[in-house]
Amino acid sequence: MQLGLTEKRCVTVADREGLCQARGAVRNMLEAIGISSEVILAQLLTIVDELGNNILRHGGRGRLCIATARAAGRTGFRITAEDRGAGITDLPKALTPGYSEDKGMGMGLNLLRAISDDIVIANQLTGGAVIEVWKWI
Ligand SMILES: Nc1ncnc2c1ncn2[C@@H]1O[C@H](COP(=O)(O)OP(=O)(O)OP(=O)(O)O)[C@@H](O)[C@H]1O
Ligand SMILES: [Mg+2]
Repeated sequence: MQLGLTEKRCVTVADREGLCQARGAVRNMLEAIGISSEVILAQLLTIVDELGNNILRHGGRGRLCIATARAAGRTGFRITAEDRGAGITDLPKALTPGYSEDKGMGMGLNLLRAISDDIVIANQLTGGAVIEVWKWI
């Protein structure tokens, strides 16, 4: 399937301000394509919040990119989080409910799996985590 990315916005996440900018970008992009569903907005904001909080908490600082794509008459949102921290120590366990290296609830990534269409978690060769989440609407 050919995925034409139609729009992409990236924001630096070094504090909560970056997180707010990423939330704003999601709102604007949804508005631009005429989607007014509160449920979809809430799900996309949850993805941004969770990935952004993981950057701040586990990666230190990083970047969130939000892109849209069109395929088979639908719009896909791709939200990517990248950081330059130590990376995810245990990739297979990271998606397991209740697993946290940091006394968290360990539910964030698991929740994202439930509300998204696809989630890919990896470490970069140069260090740091990269997590990509797709949500088709
Ligand atoms: N950007 C990241 N860099 C390094 N490790 C990460 C990153 N994101 C997630 N992890 C690892 O994956 C684990 C699970 O993440 P998850 O978001 O599910 O739980 P949590 O952040 O620990 O708690 P919470 O339920 O509050 O989100 C984390 O505890 C951490 O070990
Ligand atoms: Mg988390």
